[in-house]
Amino acid sequence: MKTRTFGRIGRSVSEIGFGAWAIGASWGHVDADDAKAALHAALDAGMTFIDTADVYGDGRSEQLIAEVVDARGGERPFIATKAGRRLPAQTVEGYSAENLSSYIDRSLTNLKTDTLDLVQLHCPPTDLYYHPEVFGRLDDLVTAGKIRNYGVSVERVEEGLKALEYPGVTSVQIIYNIMRQRPAERFLQLAAELGVGVIARVPLASGMLSGKFRADTRFEESDHRQFNRNGEAFDVGETFAGVPYEKGLAAVERIRPLVGGSATMAQFALRWVLMNEAITVVIPGARNADQAVANAAASDLPALSGETMAELKAIYDADIKPFVHQRW
Ligand SMILES: NC(=O)c1ccc[n+]([C@@H]2O[C@H](COP(=O)([O-])OP(=O)(O)OC[C@H]3O[C@@H](n4cnc5c(N)ncnc54)[C@H](OP(=O)(O)O)[C@@H]3O)[C@@H](O)[C@H]2O)c1
Repeated sequence: MKTRTFGRIGRSVSEIGFGAWAIGASWGHVDADDAKAALHAALDAGMTFIDTADVYGDGRSEQLIAEVVDARGGERPFIATKAGRRLPAQTVEGYSAENLSSYIDRSLTNLKTDTLDLVQLHCPPTDLYYHPEVFGRLDDLVTAGKIRNYGVSVERVEEGLKALEYPGVTSVQIIYNIMRQRPAERFLQLAAELGVGVIARVPLASGMLSGKFRADTRFEESDHRQFNRNGEAFDVGETFAGVPYEKGLAAVERIRPLVGGSATMAQFALRWVLMNEAITVVIPGARNADQAVANAAASDLPALSGETMAELKAIYDADIKPFVHQRW
């Protein structure tokens, strides 16, 4: 497993990390034993970065991570969590000192630690980025020793650009994959210049880029790929990266012939994300040990050729861009 340096924090992390949403909730039933096996397999394979949130299964994801990390002992992985989505409605006022402090206290308990490595504001409203006092509250939490670092998880590229203006922001988490190429236009380069870590989420477009789905694939009722297809519960961009299902399937068939050698399409998609040096860590979600092991192995793949990268850009421009580019 190759490593990259996490921006100004300077800590070395595995370039492929573990996305821990599915082991919390919203992806159909994931057995606790499968979830723990997935975490063990990921850590055994050299992953040293885990992304979670206080709302994933209302704390289940954080608690499972703590259980596994405690059981293993030794050096703790870098655990990034998120705060803000426990608010009943997303308003800037909700990001008060009192609320932030109580959310963070709860994550400290769930993750069984005295200080959180990284807390990311969890896709707050765009207007929040125009309220520097919220970032001041996060500075206060660093001073108080409750968190070591803070960052943001954004929906829109512009939110990421604005977040880069705050000197205390150490990382930005953003959707970046073969079907979401806009961050590469300006944002990624600027983040790298400023020494801000970039966490690339939804790298498999919710599994679409594994190439395993068909028009008649059915998902469980409690899987967001069933219940959020039109953005019924949260931003539709988090489900299949916002690409209409049938359009995504058609693009996958154009991508499939480009996957060379023994790599799976999922591994190929992860390698594409890592081709950009500004990415600190890519965090595919995994619901079992096999997926975690396969995802970790993508770090060993050779670089994609310039020709392949150009073909993937052409497929994006023709088939995907009209549906996503100006929306996020
Ligand atoms: N707002 C936010 O901040 C936010 C939003 C979304 C995600 N995230 C973070 O980003 C992480 C990754 O995003 P994501 O989980 O939404 O989407 P993703 O990584 O694009 O897709 C994950 C899904 O792909 C399938 N998969 C994973 N590895 C595979 C493999 N090797 N082969 C075949 N299929 C595989 C699994 O689903 P099936 O097996 O069920 O098909 C898995 O649940 C999350 O876990 C979370 O930590 C954050």
